[in-house]
Amino acid sequence: MRAPGADAEPEPVPAFEAAPAANPYGHLDTATREFVITRPDTPTPWLNYLGQGGYGGVISNTAGGFSFDRDPRNRRVTRYRYNSIPADQPGRYVYLRDQETGESWSPTWQPVRRRLDAYECRHGPGYTRICGALGGIEATILYFVPPGDQDEPCPCELWVLRVRNAGATRRRLRTFSYAEFGFVDAVSDQQNLDWSQHIVSSRSEDDVILVTTRVRPTTSFLASTVPPLGFTGDREDFVGRGRDLASPVVVETGQPTNAGSPRGNSVGSLCHELDLGPGEVRQLVYLMGVTDQPAEIARVIARYRDPGVVEAALAALQADWDAYLSRFRVDTPDHEMTAMLNVWNQVQCRTTLHWSRFVSGYETGLGRGMGTRDSAQDTLGAVHADPDRARQTLLRLWELQFRDGHAWHQVFPLSGEGGPGLAAEHPDWPQWFSDDHLWLVVASCAYLRETDDVALLDERAGWTDGGGDTVWAHLVAAVEFTLAHRGPHGLPRSGFADWDDTLNVDHGSGRAESPWTAMLFCRAVLDLAELCQHLGRGAEATRFGGLHADMAAVVNASAWDGAWYARAFDDEGRPIGVAGEAHQEINLNPQTWSVIGHVAPPERAELAIRSADELLGTPFGPMLLWPPYDGWDGRVCGTSSYPPGAKENGGIFCHAGAWMVMAAAMLGRADDACRHYRELMPLARTDADRYRSEPYVYPQNVCGPAHPQFGLARNSWLTGTAAWMFVAATHWILGIRPEYEGLRIAPVIPAAWTGFRARREFRGVAYEIDVRRDGPGTDISLVVDGRPIDTTVVPLPGPGTTSVAVEVIIR
Ligand code: GLC
Repeated sequence: MRAPGADAEPEPVPAFEAAPAANPYGHLDTATREFVITRPDTPTPWLNYLGQGGYGGVISNTAGGFSFDRDPRNRRVTRYRYNSIPADQPGRYVYLRDQETGESWSPTWQPVRRRLDAYECRHGPGYTRICGALGGIEATILYFVPPGDQDEPCPCELWVLRVRNAGATRRRLRTFSYAEFGFVDAVSDQQNLDWSQHIVSSRSEDDVILVTTRVRPTTSFLASTVPPLGFTGDREDFVGRGRDLASPVVVETGQPTNAGSPRGNSVGSLCHELDLGPGEVRQLVYLMGVTDQPAEIARVIARYRDPGVVEAALAALQADWDAYLSRFRVDTPDHEMTAMLNVWNQVQCRTTLHWSRFVSGYETGLGRGMGTRDSAQDTLGAVHADPDRARQTLLRLWELQFRDGHAWHQVFPLSGEGGPGLAAEHPDWPQWFSDDHLWLVVASCAYLRETDDVALLDERAGWTDGGGDTVWAHLVAAVEFTLAHRGPHGLPRSGFADWDDTLNVDHGSGRAESPWTAMLFCRAVLDLAELCQHLGRGAEATRFGGLHADMAAVVNASAWDGAWYARAFDDEGRPIGVAGEAHQEINLNPQTWSVIGHVAPPERAELAIRSADELLGTPFGPMLLWPPYDGWDGRVCGTSSYPPGAKENGGIFCHAGAWMVMAAAMLGRADDACRHYRELMPLARTDADRYRSEPYVYPQNVCGPAHPQFGLARNSWLTGTAAWMFVAATHWILGIRPEYEGLRIAPVIPAAWTGFRARREFRGVAYEIDVRRDGPGTDISLVVDGRPIDTTVVPLPGPGTTSVAVEVIIR
C-alpha cells in the first residue's frame, strides 16, 4: 500500500551534516539575516511582509504586491491582480528614464522586465531591498513601514530610492513612481465596478497625490520628500491605449500629465528629475499610506524629509526585530535548523500571528478574514517573544465564542464581523467546527505556562450571542460544548469539519464523529487539569483528569483499528481511515494526536506512529492520508474534490507533518523527529524549480506522490506549519518548554549530535543553555548556575536574577 514513487524518484533530502543546499535563485545571508535572491525570475513570486500587523502589505522579489491598513478587505490601499499575466503585478514601482536616449527600465526588473546588468533582492525581517543596475546607473529601493507609525493616525510605508551614477559621464534621468490605488472596500473594488469606478478619484494637492471618495474620509496618498516635477493620477493616461505597465506612454514620452483622475483608476505617479555627475548619488523617499485625517499627511512628509529620521526609522525596525528574535536563539549542528529557528521561522510565526490566513500570495485578503482555530494556533509560535500580542489575540478570539461554547470560525479584524466560514455554503449541515473552541483552550494554557499571567482567567470577554463572562467561564464552556455534542460512540461529533476543513462527514444525522477531535479534547482537558493543579483547584483538576481518561477510553474502545486509529465515522456511522478501505485507509492526524493528546497506551502509540511512517512517509514529509480519493465521494465531500495527491487529499500537509515531528520526539525517537523535520524544511530542498515556493518560509502543502507535480510546494507563509514547526523543534527536539513551575529542558536529539547551545527568555529571565552529549543514551542531568538539580525543570530563580546558566549533560 506504500505510495507509488514515494521511495523512487526524488533525490534524498541531505542529512544535517551536508553543506547548505544549493539554490540557483538565492541564498541565506546569516550575517544580515536576509534571504538574498539573485535572479528576478523565481519560479513563483518570493514574498515578504512589510509592517507589523497594522499598516503594511506584501512585496515580492520584483516589487509586486499591495498595501492595506489592518484589514486588506475593508481598508485596502493598492491593488494586486492575482493569477494574471504578466504575473505578480502591479506593485510598488519606480521607472527610470534616460532623458538623452529615452530608454527606460526599472531596478526591480518588473514591470518593464528589461534584462539588467545586475539584480539583487534582499528580504529581511520587515523590509525588502531591491537593487538593479543598467548601463552605469545603479538604483536601490528599500521598502519598509516605520514601526512606531502604524498606530498613528496616518500610517505609511517608505520607499527609499537611491540612484548612483557609476559611469564616467553626467546623466540626466527622470523617475516615475507607480502605485495603483483601489477603493478601500476591496470587494466592491472588484465586484461593483460601476459604483466604485465612479466614486474614487485622485488629485494632487501640495505635490501629494490624494485618492478619495465623497462617502468616507479615508484618503490614500503617495508623496515624496523631494518636490516632484509633475504627476500623473490616472492609470489610463499613464499607460496609454493598447499598452501595459512594461511601456507606459508617460514613461516613454517622459511627460507626466499633471492631471488627476476624475473617476476610473487612480495611480500614484510622481515624476522627478535627477541630474547626476559621475559617482554622484541621490536619495528620494516616497511615502504611501492611508488616513482618515488627511491633514496629518503634511506632518508625516515633513518628518521624513530629514534623512536622519528615515535612518532612525529603519534602525527602530531592526531594533524591534533584534529584540523579538533575541528571546530565542540557538546554535545546533544542523545549520539549516539553526538558520530557520533563529530568523525566518520566527519571522513567519510573527506574520501568521498578524495575518492568520487572510492575506498572502495565495489568500487574496478579500475572503476569509482571521481564522479562529488558525489564530489560536498561531499564538503558539509567538507567545515566547510577544506574549502581550498573544494575550490580545486570545481575548479577541474568546469574544467569538457563543454561550453554548462553540465559536465563530472566522472574523474580519476591523469590523469584528464573525462567521461560520465555509459552513455557510451548506446551511443544512452543522454551522460549527468541532475544533475551533478547543484550540482556544490549548492556546490559552500555552500562554499561561509561558507567562503565569493567571489574571487572564478573570478577564471578561463577551459572548458573541450577548452578555459576557470571565475567560475561565469561556474555557469551561468550550469543554461543555464538546461534551454536549457527542455521537453514538461517545466521541465528539465532527461538525462541519474538524481541523481538516475538507473532511465534511457530518451531514446532520448526528452520527458522524471525529476521533481526532476527541484527541484534541483530551489535550485540552489535560492542559486544564494541569492548570487547575497549578492553581490549587484540586476538585476541578480531578474532573478534567477524569474527562481525559473517559474520552481516551472511548477512543481506544471505538477507533483503534489494529495498527492505527480511525480518522472519522461518517454520517451513517461507518468508520473512515481504516484498513481495507479503497480510499483513505489511514490518516496521519489521529496517529500523531494519539501521542500529543496522551490517548494511546505506549504500545499503540509506537505502532500508530510506525504505521503512519511506513504508509504515509515520503522524502518531503508524510502525506495526510493514503490512498487518496479519485473523484467525488459523498462520505467525505471536500477532501475528494481535490485530485489525488493535492492538499488534504493525499498531499503533504506540512501543518500536520509538524505534528509528526512532535509525536516522534515525544516518543523519544530523536532520529525520526529530525528526519521528518528536515523532510519538511524548505531550506533543505535542492530542487527549487520543482519546489517553486520560497525557501525561507514553510508552505501549507506540498503535492504528494500521487500528484504529477509531486514535490511542488504551495500556499507559502500563512500556515499553521510555522507555529507547529517552531514548537516541534524548540519544545520537543531541543526540549526547551515552559511549564508552570519553571523551564523544562529535556532534549530529544539525534545520537550524532554532540550538543547545542540556546538562549531562551522565560518570564523575564535569560536562560543560557549549554547541552552536551556525553554518551549515546538518553539520560539527562542538569546543572543550574553550577549546582546539580534532580529534575529537568529549571526552577524559577529568586527575584532580581536576570540570567541563569544551565548545563545539560546527556549520557
Ligand atoms: C488550512 C486552514 C486551516 C485548516 C487546514 C486543514 O490551512 O487555514 O484552518 O485547519 O487548512 O484543512
